[in-house]
Amino acid sequence: MKKLIAGNWKMNLNKAEIKTLLGDIKAQLKDSENTDYLVCPPYVYLDMVVQGLQGTPIAVGAQDCTLNDNGAYTGDISAAMLKDIGAQFVILGHSERRTHHKENSALISKKAQKAHALDLISIICVGETLAQRETGQEQETVKQQLLDSLPNTATSHNTIIAYEPVWAIGTGKTASPEDVQAMHGFIRTTLAQHFDGPQNVHILYGGSMKPENAKALLATPNVDGGLIGGASLKADHFLAIGNAA
Ligand code: 13P
Repeated sequence: MKKLIAGNWKMNLNKAEIKTLLGDIKAQLKDSENTDYLVCPPYVYLDMVVQGLQGTPIAVGAQDCTLNDNGAYTGDISAAMLKDIGAQFVILGHSERRTHHKENSALISKKAQKAHALDLISIICVGETLAQRETGQEQETVKQQLLDSLPNTATSHNTIIAYEPVWAIGTGKTASPEDVQAMHGFIRTTLAQHFDGPQNVHILYGGSMKPENAKALLATPNVDGGLIGGASLKADHFLAIGNAA
């Protein structure tokens, strides 16, 4: 399976910085034969990034969507709007949204269903907290999140799973390749309860992935790519991770 290297820009960068980043990525992108690339900018810059990356193999996605189609939902952005401006992917259930916006797996499942109806590929995020890992609840937590977040519209073509241990996000701490291997294998087994072809589902690792640790993480069995925060904001770091894949 071709690895997917996805950048989650979160709430970072401004217009001028994005212009520079896109220019750098385009100038430095070599052969992407073995790697697929995706960037997920904040909503307001999506259109600009879609335009800026036209003619390149880099896909564009959003960081969330709402489950309503249109109407009186001040501040919300629908999956249809994302599709309209040329986004192909949407991240759903990132731990930052689960924490700051109190999103639960039932809501994420409904959002994913909406995304699938519009042919958007959903990247569904799961991951345990440090307290859950320290008390040996990491697998049970991730299993529950998976089973509750995946709608019955999910297939290996329209759904990607991102395992992001909460304690590794933005902390500089990375899960060890052994822990990642154990969890990704467990996720693959759990997916078999839901998908016909669980072996075809991309399972990404996210949490302080950077050029220095990417090679080991991406060589780990069942790691089909990365969801990268901080290191995706610099073209050379982002592409070095892609080259490591
Ligand atoms: P960092 O790579 O900054 O740890 O962020 C990971 C992440 O949350 C990607 O969605």
